[in-house]
Formats: sequence, structure tokens, C-alpha cells
Amino acid sequence: MTGANSKFKFLQLDMVDNVLSQYPDKRSAVLPLLHLAQSQEGYISAGVLETIANIVAVTSAEIASTVSFYTMFNTEPLGKYNLQVCQTLSCSLNGADELVDHICNEYKIAPGETTEDDRFTLMKVECLGSCGTAPVVQINNDYHEGVTVEFLDKLLDSLE
Ligand code: FES
Repeated sequence: MTGANSKFKFLQLDMVDNVLSQYPDKRSAVLPLLHLAQSQEGYISAGVLETIANIVAVTSAEIASTVSFYTMFNTEPLGKYNLQVCQTLSCSLNGADELVDHICNEYKIAPGETTEDDRFTLMKVECLGSCGTAPVVQINNDYHEGVTVEFLDKLLDSLE
């Protein structure tokens, strides 16, 4: 038994048990549990923090500090499409800033914000690991390399 508090719907207990079974120390499963929770809930809520803390027997503050350290964890609900524009050197030198400015102007949002219709969230993120094909934009789990403003417009228009 995981010890997960059943009042939170986000964690499917069989998946939690599967994650925990891969680590001799429950605390080592914090990151995989956070990824699991985010994939199911879309973001890491206070309830998620508390539930994971209970599962691995640490304080919610410890889980919160882990979440705040990693930029891949979101603590607020996101739009349907999370536009993650790499801002690290190669991408920045190859047009990422122009992409961010374009999204801001086109959709009237700033980095970290979501459009009023909850369609797009814009994030400036650190290196996405494809520096040779900069600039790189990740939309949800899909990578797009060598992105131009024109390509980005077509891509975003094509999303349902
Ligand atoms: S600098 Fe953008 S992918 Fe590495």
C-alpha cells in the first residue's frame, strides 16, 4: 500500500506502486512521482505536493523545494498547448527572442502567462538539448527545430 491519500484523484495507485517498486528508498521516487502527477493533472497543485509528501514520508515543504528547483514542473494550470521556447545561448542567437516577442504580440501574453481562452501558455525554458538545430520550440511533448516566425504561425494555426 502506498499510503496515498485517496481524497486526491490525481494519482492512480497502481502507477504509484509501480514507480515505488523501482526504488529501494521511497524518497528517490519523488521526481518520477512528480512527473507522473503532472502528466495526469497537468500541474503540481498543493494537493499533489501533500499527497506525494505523504507517500514518500517527507514534508510538503521538501517536495515544494524540489518542484521550485526544476523548471519542468508547473505549479499553475496551463493552456491546452504549452509553448516552450528555448532561451539558452544557441537558440537566443538564432531567433528565439524574436519568436517570444512574436507570440507575446500575437496572443497578448507575456512569458509565464496563458491566453484568455486557455489555448496557449508561453514559457521561456532552458536548453532543450538540440542546440545544433536552434531555435527550438517544444509544444507539449513535441519538438520543433529551426523554427521561424512563419513556421510558428503555420504550426499554431494548425493546432486544434
Ligand atoms: S540552446 Fe536551445 S536547444 Fe540548446
